[in-house]
Amino acid sequence: MAIQSVVLKTIYVGTFIHSVSLAELQVLKRSAVAVDESGKILLVEHPVEASMLEMWAKEAGTTIVEAGPGQFFFPGLIDTHIHASQYPNSGIFGKSTLLDWLNTYTFPSKLPSRNPAYYATRDVTSTNILATTCHTAGQRAFVGRCCMDCMAPDYYRDTDAATSLADTIKCAEFCAKLDPKGELVQSIITPRFAPSCSRELMRDLGDFMAQSGLLCQTHISENKGEIELVASLFPECKNYATVYDRAGLLSEKTVLAHAVHLTDDEIALVKMRGSKISHCPVSNAALTSGAAKVRRLLDEGIVVGLGTDVSGGYSPSVLEAARQATMTSRFVSLTEGEEAKLSVEEALYLATRGGAEVLGLQKTVGAFEVGMEWDALLVGCTFVPDEEECDEDEDLLQAKQAVGGGMTPVDLFGWENWEEMVAKWLYSGDDRNVLKVWVKGRKVHEKPA
Ligand code: GUN
Ligand code: FE
Repeated sequence: MAIQSVVLKTIYVGTFIHSVSLAELQVLKRSAVAVDESGKILLVEHPVEASMLEMWAKEAGTTIVEAGPGQFFFPGLIDTHIHASQYPNSGIFGKSTLLDWLNTYTFPSKLPSRNPAYYATRDVTSTNILATTCHTAGQRAFVGRCCMDCMAPDYYRDTDAATSLADTIKCAEFCAKLDPKGELVQSIITPRFAPSCSRELMRDLGDFMAQSGLLCQTHISENKGEIELVASLFPECKNYATVYDRAGLLSEKTVLAHAVHLTDDEIALVKMRGSKISHCPVSNAALTSGAAKVRRLLDEGIVVGLGTDVSGGYSPSVLEAARQATMTSRFVSLTEGEEAKLSVEEALYLATRGGAEVLGLQKTVGAFEVGMEWDALLVGCTFVPDEEECDEDEDLLQAKQAVGGGMTPVDLFGWENWEEMVAKWLYSGDDRNVLKVWVKGRKVHEKPA
């Protein structure tokens, strides 16, 4: 490729690990990824010749960022379902289940008057502040005002369907001004869930979805009590998914969170509409909602990503969600068979490419491919020196001579191959292993030294 003809802003050099399919992670050792001014990946060179690196190093205006020994670049992890406003409540759920949790912990915590720093997701101003905050921080985000004109306390309910729609449109217009091309921040239509939305509101939002082309996110079949409630509120619908479908809310631009108890009919409908699923294993365990059958959904060809569902989920970490996805799948395998188990590779696929596809960003982020954008983590682990060097992998031998990421929860003893190193990261890692984060080519975070 004639790389001289384009402006290479940054060249990342080292080991890159990403998903090439659901079951396979590819490890690109001693490679280089060149990124342009706009954050787009122009070149993936593996392995990279030393002479090429020397040539690039001489080019004015080009920065080289190298991963050290024991470090690797990984695509940015994607959270497809989080309630920003619930973050202050993380970890507080007691022994509640969904419906009493909402009334006891969730609705009261979002009172805008309680603390001005809490984003009240039903509130236009606070939703717009959240969008601005994400944009300023350089985050990629779909930000939705939570629509609810039914079944919530008076202090936390939209006055009526018309007001709810009007406020939703205000938020959409705000995002369109904030980020006209939707490069980082976009608005997303957000009916909270069927029990808190009137038929009229859901239909209005379905129409707005068709007209605006925006994504839509909601909850589905999270909890048995919720499903019974939906059946009693919408007797004309044969199941939960049909409630959304009748309103025009099920399309390939719809993100359905949880989907723990979908019936065969509902799975067929979701598949037919091309809607996507956000699997929220931490929340599903915390609120005793159940264990979603992810393998079944994947086998049907339904696109699945991961959601932290803070604060139904106690952690904002997508790595934790990926880890718990593998744990949940092991419980599912006890009744559904071995094939239900998700591997390390599969969990990390869901956290990256799966999540990207859920949000319609599969051509933009989720892997290191030419044409995609540089959304990446630099991951580092801790080296524990060992006399007995027995591994043949050069990179890992090198890792023995240096501390990859300072003190982290992932200890490497030097004998691990890349597969083992990634497994250790998934099961024991946390933000101490995240040395740097980039979004669209911009560094948005660096671990303090
Ligand atoms: N269903 C309706 N609202 C919520 C919420 O805030 N969190 C979760 N987990 N499920 C919901
Ligand atoms: Fe949720």
